[in-house]
Amino acid sequence: MQTPPIQLLIHGASGRMGRALLRLAAQRDDLEVVAAVSQRGAPIEEAGAVPVFAAARLGEAPDFDVAIDFSLPDAFDALLAHCVTHGRALLSGTTGLSPAQHAALAVAGERIPVMWASNYSAGVAVLAELVRLAAAALPGWDADVVEAHHTLKKDAPSGTALTLGAAVAAGRGSPPHYASLRAGDIVGEHTVQFSGAGERLELVHRATHRDIFARGALDAALRLAQLGPGRHDFGALLLADSRR
Ligand SMILES: NC(=O)c1ccc[n+]([C@@H]2O[C@H](COP(=O)([O-])OP(=O)(O)OC[C@H]3O[C@@H](n4cnc5c(N)ncnc54)[C@H](OP(=O)(O)O)[C@@H]3O)[C@@H](O)[C@H]2O)c1
Repeated sequence: MQTPPIQLLIHGASGRMGRALLRLAAQRDDLEVVAAVSQRGAPIEEAGAVPVFAAARLGEAPDFDVAIDFSLPDAFDALLAHCVTHGRALLSGTTGLSPAQHAALAVAGERIPVMWASNYSAGVAVLAELVRLAAAALPGWDADVVEAHHTLKKDAPSGTALTLGAAVAAGRGSPPHYASLRAGDIVGEHTVQFSGAGERLELVHRATHRDIFARGALDAALRLAQLGPGRHDFGALLLADSRR
């Protein structure tokens, strides 16, 4: 017997990421988008027959298994509260969340499955692991995280740069320096540079298409739907699956 598709609510559906999520989800049999939410609720071409709701009408959206959120920090609290109230899972990729919002997500994880990642690409999950190893092996070296993104990106350093910085700190006990570039339509580039006397190690990830983040988030949502309450880690899940 075929398993019914996991039902998704896409939050931030009219944005660059939201439209990629709608387009890619429509190509899959294991996922079904039942609601699309944006701030204004304006029609979204990629939504097709999926109903679109303005954020203020979130309470009218149909039931779902997992909400996928790629929006803005201002939009996050209402969605988290909605998921907790209805006992539904939340996967978020929204960057620039405050420490209080991360704390609220951790508390929500006691009741529902939650996942937040600054980057849903497999390459960055592996990069973070490599960065931690390099930082632990090169404790006396300078460490710098340099990131470049398109000019419309609102937060800096990027959430991914901060995740890589946390991997540096986990490896050697102190954080790196950060530098951010905003130029053209760059999807996302991150370099972690370790500089010693007379030598330099650079670990680089370049995203050339934002579909990688959308695909990673959809795969992770499918996995999240099978898990119980808790704050689940995208990188750990990916690496665990690859070792099976
Ligand atoms: N984790 C990752 O892998 C990853 C990858 C790429 C991007 N991101 C992050 O994902 C987020 C979205 O990026 P983007 O480039 O798609 O942004 P974007 O194109 O600016 O889209 C923002 C979306 O959020 C919606 N929105 C704004 N306020 C809202 C509210 N109060 N309630 C509900 N929806 C609201 C907007 O709706 P309207 O159109 O109606 O205003 C729009 O749909 C950013 O934080 C970005 O850094 C994460």
